[in-house]
Amino acid sequence: MRLRHVSLGALLVAVAYCLALVAPAHAAPASIVSGDLWPDDRGRHVQAHGGGITKCGETYYWFGEDRSKDNDPGKRYVACYASEDLAHWRFRNQVIRLADPAGFGPEWILERPKVFFNAKTKQFVMYMHIDGRLPGSESSYSLARVGVAVCDTVDGDYRFVKSFRPLGMESRDIGQFIDDDGSAYLIFESRPTKGFVIARLSDDYLDVEKEVCLVGAPIEGGALVHYQGLYYAVGSALTGWAPNPNKYATATSLAGPWSEFRDIAPPEKNTYGAQSTMLLKVVGPKATTVIFMADVWKPDAQWDSRYVWMPLEIGGGRLWLPPPAVWTIDVGTGEAVLKH
Ligand code: DGJ
Repeated sequence: MRLRHVSLGALLVAVAYCLALVAPAHAAPASIVSGDLWPDDRGRHVQAHGGGITKCGETYYWFGEDRSKDNDPGKRYVACYASEDLAHWRFRNQVIRLADPAGFGPEWILERPKVFFNAKTKQFVMYMHIDGRLPGSESSYSLARVGVAVCDTVDGDYRFVKSFRPLGMESRDIGQFIDDDGSAYLIFESRPTKGFVIARLSDDYLDVEKEVCLVGAPIEGGALVHYQGLYYAVGSALTGWAPNPNKYATATSLAGPWSEFRDIAPPEKNTYGAQSTMLLKVVGPKATTVIFMADVWKPDAQWDSRYVWMPLEIGGGRLWLPPPAVWTIDVGTGEAVLKH
């Protein structure tokens, strides 16, 4: 047998070579650059505004408003992107391409889509802020409803199911939160009550079942994270598309009591031009990083709206947003490194 004459060293080199072919070395984490254009795998700026992230296995899916310039103005769009490292995003699909599905009117609005996976029904359930003009109203944001759409696959074509006012309340900006025990919550801003509502979803996620807390603060762009035994809620003031100083509060239980809302950055910086949309917790063996995901809106050129994603300084009841910078996240270890 010829193999007997192959030295052990040569054999090891050959094995290492073969392993390298099937399992490339762990790549250095890629940089996230807040505020710049964020090209997808096609070289086009990511269209996932007011978005949220749903993780399936090792893959993160980023859903958000697709405001592409060449979209049909009669339709509303939600795009979905996939990534394993949170820096490189592959366009998957315009998962919603919807003409007015329920007589909302020509000015109808679809904002801030968020997708939940329901383990019992094996369905992906999308919530979105649906709005439009009630007859006779001065405001094109007077419908104040949520819409629900479903799909059997994470990045397939979602089917619009219905719209409603959660718990009978006006609902505008929405956010999503999955607690550590897997329970799913919709966050919504309800203006007449000056409230930031945390509400539990039904078993199949198709309904908003129970008010867990009405936080008595006029906060939109609401987002939550559970970190080291404390809940942190983040949101912005109600100033339309214009940036304002985003704030945070804490509580030991989702039901409250919640602390007063405090600044997340120097107030004169207006959150560096951004507005919160989600807090993403990346848990690894070396660190847990909470990413502040936010939108820098360009109301007259929505397709060009940018993103501020930054790792937060968080812990012990304090939360602080560092100035936008270039940074890396290693999703394998959970570590974030600010570069400059
Ligand atoms: C602020 C909200 O956060 C956005 O999603 C959008 O609804 C704008 N208001 C519209 O003015």
